[in-house]
Amino acid sequence: MAELLKTIKARAGNKSYDILIGNNVFRKLKDNRIYMDSDKAVFIISSRVYELHKNFIRDTLKDSDRENHIFIMNDSEKNKNYKYAEKFLNLFLKKGITRKSVVISIGGGVVGDFAGYISALYMRGVPLIHVPTTLLSMVDSSIGGKVAVNLDTGKNIAGAFHQPSFVISDVRFLSTLPEEEFINGLAEVLKHGLIGDYNTFTLLENADINTIYENEFLTELVAYSAKFKSEIVEKDEKESGIRVILNFGHTIGHAVESLMEYTISHGAAVSTGIIAIIKLCNRLEMITDSEVKRVLSIMKKFGLSNLDLKISPEDIIDHMKYDKKNSDDKINFVFINGIGNPVYDQQVNRNILLEELENMFC
Ligand SMILES: NC(=O)c1ccc[n+]([C@@H]2O[C@H](COP(=O)([O-])OP(=O)(O)OC[C@H]3O[C@@H](n4cnc5c(N)ncnc54)[C@H](O)[C@@H]3O)[C@@H](O)[C@H]2O)c1
Repeated sequence: MAELLKTIKARAGNKSYDILIGNNVFRKLKDNRIYMDSDKAVFIISSRVYELHKNFIRDTLKDSDRENHIFIMNDSEKNKNYKYAEKFLNLFLKKGITRKSVVISIGGGVVGDFAGYISALYMRGVPLIHVPTTLLSMVDSSIGGKVAVNLDTGKNIAGAFHQPSFVISDVRFLSTLPEEEFINGLAEVLKHGLIGDYNTFTLLENADINTIYENEFLTELVAYSAKFKSEIVEKDEKESGIRVILNFGHTIGHAVESLMEYTISHGAAVSTGIIAIIKLCNRLEMITDSEVKRVLSIMKKFGLSNLDLKISPEDIIDHMKYDKKNSDDKINFVFINGIGNPVYDQQVNRNILLEELENMFC
């Protein structure tokens, strides 16, 4: 099959790295210096991805002339935890992994966050390569250096910033991705479109639903979206300013996801959060009725529609107050002042917020 290829140069802090995107580009791993110069390569691979793509993965690594160690991770969110990470760290030591080795994640955001966390910790840091296999991980979690595991007391609480040395997004993996997972990624892609990624917004608005699973379309979509995220990270690696715009729709989305006790997908929660915030921005006369219509029509086309959820607005507000990104009892929102124009650290009058949440959730 023909190979499509796009390369993005990402930069964060004093580090720069390439993101390769395309169909069949996983094979390019063997051209990468970090991989080839490492004394050992440790692959942490999603059990599901290994089951579905075993031949392709093994075939690619077959004559790489490296000492490859393959660890299969049962990649449910509950395994993205501190105790499981400790098990892997001990295993690394037993296998003689050194700081000259490289850790390579192959999987979605769970495997990427987990492998990234281990590589940040082991001997104070081992180089990391991500091979994301879900749409969400291609456009979001593999870029930006946030790595973390969950504690019993909270999600992504034990973490670090550890930038990858290379990212390979092979859209070939997306052919086996379940629809619900695809939608989870699309919600993040749309978010980028709304907060300034004009190319992605236009691509989504003009897309024919029948072509979105085609490799050419996916390569373009992932490339635009990954470029946008990497540019935001380049401006603000540690999230002390503009990087917070990436939380657009997530403040309400996370509250909804948590209050529904994670019985709805992340994509559905984010979509619901995006709709709520769009309506709030419209009420605050920041975006027009026709802009709201354009956004809702894209969401409908891709199945990113609002769920009819009954949740207490008071509970949503309480939850948002205690979100780790808020302080002093204030709720900080990211709004848009017209499509593509984000503003952050925004507060809203409690009665207006309550009314809008009542319209949506009661
Ligand atoms: N580090 C960050 O900046 C960041 C950003 C966003 C999300 N995250 C984290 O990412 C995680 C969610 O990631 P996700 O949405 O990729 O989900 P995921 O990693 O849980 O993968 C979703 C499901 O798809 C399966 N899967 C993966 N690739 C597949 C493929 N090609 N074909 C078939 N099945 C496949 C997995 O086995 C899993 O069952 C969460 O833990 C979240 O906290 C991190």
